[in-house]
Amino acid sequence: MSKVTVLGGGGWAIALAKVLNENGHNVTLWSALEREVEALTKERENKVGLPGVKIPEKIKITNDIKEAVKDSKMIVMAVASSFVRSTSELLKDIVPDGQIIVDVAKGIEDGTFYTMTEVIEDVIPTVNAVVLSGPSHAEEVGLQVPTAVVVGAKTFETASFVQRLFSNDYFRAYTSPDRKSIELGGSLKNVIALAAGIADGLGYGDNTEAALMTRGIKEITQLGVAMGGHSRTFHGLSGIGDLIVTCGSKHSRNRRAGILIGKGYTLDEAVKEVNMVVEGAVSAKAALELAHKYNVDMPLVESVNQVLFENKPAKEAMRDIMKRDLTHEFPDLVWE
Ligand SMILES: NC(=O)c1ccc[n+]([C@@H]2O[C@H](COP(=O)([O-])OP(=O)(O)OC[C@H]3O[C@@H](n4cnc5c(N)ncnc54)[C@H](O)[C@@H]3O)[C@@H](O)[C@H]2O)c1
Repeated sequence: MSKVTVLGGGGWAIALAKVLNENGHNVTLWSALEREVEALTKERENKVGLPGVKIPEKIKITNDIKEAVKDSKMIVMAVASSFVRSTSELLKDIVPDGQIIVDVAKGIEDGTFYTMTEVIEDVIPTVNAVVLSGPSHAEEVGLQVPTAVVVGAKTFETASFVQRLFSNDYFRAYTSPDRKSIELGGSLKNVIALAAGIADGLGYGDNTEAALMTRGIKEITQLGVAMGGHSRTFHGLSGIGDLIVTCGSKHSRNRRAGILIGKGYTLDEAVKEVNMVVEGAVSAKAALELAHKYNVDMPLVESVNQVLFENKPAKEAMRDIMKRDLTHEFPDLVWE
């Protein structure tokens, strides 16, 4: 039995804390928000983030970061991605060299365009930063619905250590050395989920959404490969797997925000209505900057940015996408 720590008090933090507790580990859950800690301690449930899933009594809940991470074999970073840097700052002087920190937050940092493990390593260069990602809604993991994810780490030893801590008969973790592509897939699919939601909000159908998903993963893969990733990872659990679950699900906040935008809401109005961080909006900006930097053509990402940040009507953006110059599906395939 190992001591493990989960940072965050949202739905994903709770679902993963529960998995680790059910696997027999000694779990401490920490949140920076005193009010959240009080509510979680009193109600043993996050009534907004993960209603209906009780936090087992054995899980300790605290607001004290030092106590939370002391002697921890693995720290899981499950705060919203915009707080990964500030939370890493809190850990900076209190975790030992080589500390395993598993990031599960999905996003690309505004300004630096770092992935979340890069943010953690930027603040604490001596840690062993790992990513766990894949098609995994907290709402389903919390109910023990069979789920598969992938763990990306710098060494096989670390990846398999984290794999074993998490895996059980309903939560199956695979390992991979391709940390960067796993993180890019997990963040950038949120941009395509916004696009799929927008199409839904405009009243379009399954054809449109399938086209957006297929062409979307192609854009993401091209960018990822240009940034040094492996194309196969984008066709795995953290790429196409996560794209499918996010674009097709009622649980996805990015998709829900997209639907509202398709119906005519502005980004701010949609975010207010969804009442959760819509990480795809930050990732959309980052993706566009990265596309320019790496000279990759990303028409869908560009259109999403125009709708979100330049007030381009969604219907017009969709029409412009359809009316681009006709081309091959795969330009590298040659005619006999
Ligand atoms: N919910 C899911 O199904 C799911 C699945 C996979 C990955 N994720 C990712 O996990 C991360 C957490 O998602 P979530 O759904 O649990 O909730 P969320 O993104 O709404 O995060 C909320 C949590 O962030 C923390 N937080 C808020 N303000 C903070 C602050 N000032 N300082 C430090 N921490 C603060 C709080 O603990 C809060 O409960 C996100 O990056 C999300 O993309 C979520």
